[in-house]
Amino acid sequence: MTHTQRALVIGGSRGVGAHLAAGLDERGWSVTATGRRPRSAVGLDVSVHYEQLDLATETAATDMTGLLRKVRPRLLVHNAVAYPAPEPSLTDYEAIFRVNTLVPYRVLSGYLPGADCTCVVINSDAIYHANRTSGVYAASKAALRVLTSALADHCRGSRACVATLLLGPLADDRKVEQLERIARQRKTSPEEVTSAYLRRANPSYTTDSLIPLDACLRSVEYLVDLGAQANGMLCRLDSGSAGSLI
Ligand SMILES: NC(=O)c1ccc[n+]([C@@H]2O[C@H](COP(=O)([O-])OP(=O)(O)OC[C@H]3O[C@@H](n4cnc5c(N)ncnc54)[C@H](OP(=O)(O)O)[C@@H]3O)[C@@H](O)[C@H]2O)c1
Repeated sequence: MTHTQRALVIGGSRGVGAHLAAGLDERGWSVTATGRRPRSAVGLDVSVHYEQLDLATETAATDMTGLLRKVRPRLLVHNAVAYPAPEPSLTDYEAIFRVNTLVPYRVLSGYLPGADCTCVVINSDAIYHANRTSGVYAASKAALRVLTSALADHCRGSRACVATLLLGPLADDRKVEQLERIARQRKTSPEEVTSAYLRRANPSYTTDSLIPLDACLRSVEYLVDLGAQANGMLCRLDSGSAGSLI
């Protein structure tokens, strides 16, 4: 399928966001990706436009609104995420909520109802099992999940729609490298280490391998193809993380 339409990936400078930006670009979308780091530190192909955007700053809402008005994307992916630093302060907690949840909600609730746009909000299975290390991150994502439902209500009767893509353990470079290093140390296969890691991480996981980044791209494409029917939808690509009832 070819598109001449514009896609904007907020948080597209690395990891799954960069994979989505590159994949959409390959499929013919005109893609703009954002991140905090400068273009020179981002490994994206030159055909992908790039803008610096920091959602933790005082001007973040104005900056993000300006970017949306400039790009006018047909597809918008909110993938940006802030993870807590070790021993975070209260200010760090607030920054996590600003980046992951509050700035995107504030901006999108104003922007989406007047736009012809499918918005895919990336969420995390961390919302199902918070612990002492993931608690604040998980809470910001749980709030994002609730506010994405509120956004769907904002979009009702308009040409815009918003859906959640809720992800489980991804095969991102950092995780894959870490598991491969452990496999070398233990003189076993990466597959065996990955399977053991997943079984220990969450007994509800139903797969023995990490989720390929390409499955995320295909899920985003599926949500865009659904059009308005995807408004309010929750698409779970999370290896069964929440167990059997949800
Ligand atoms: N990785 C997983 O296994 C996993 C599992 C479940 C769900 N998820 C979800 O998938 C999404 C991506 O996760 P990831 O692990 O791939 O993230 P990542 O590699 O850490 O990338 C995060 C992206 O967000 C940007 N970002 C960070 N702080 C920002 C800020 N203050 N303002 C604007 N942008 C900022 C980063 O830009 P810079 O690098 O330029 O700072 C980068 O583009 C998140 O929504 C996460 O909740 C991931």
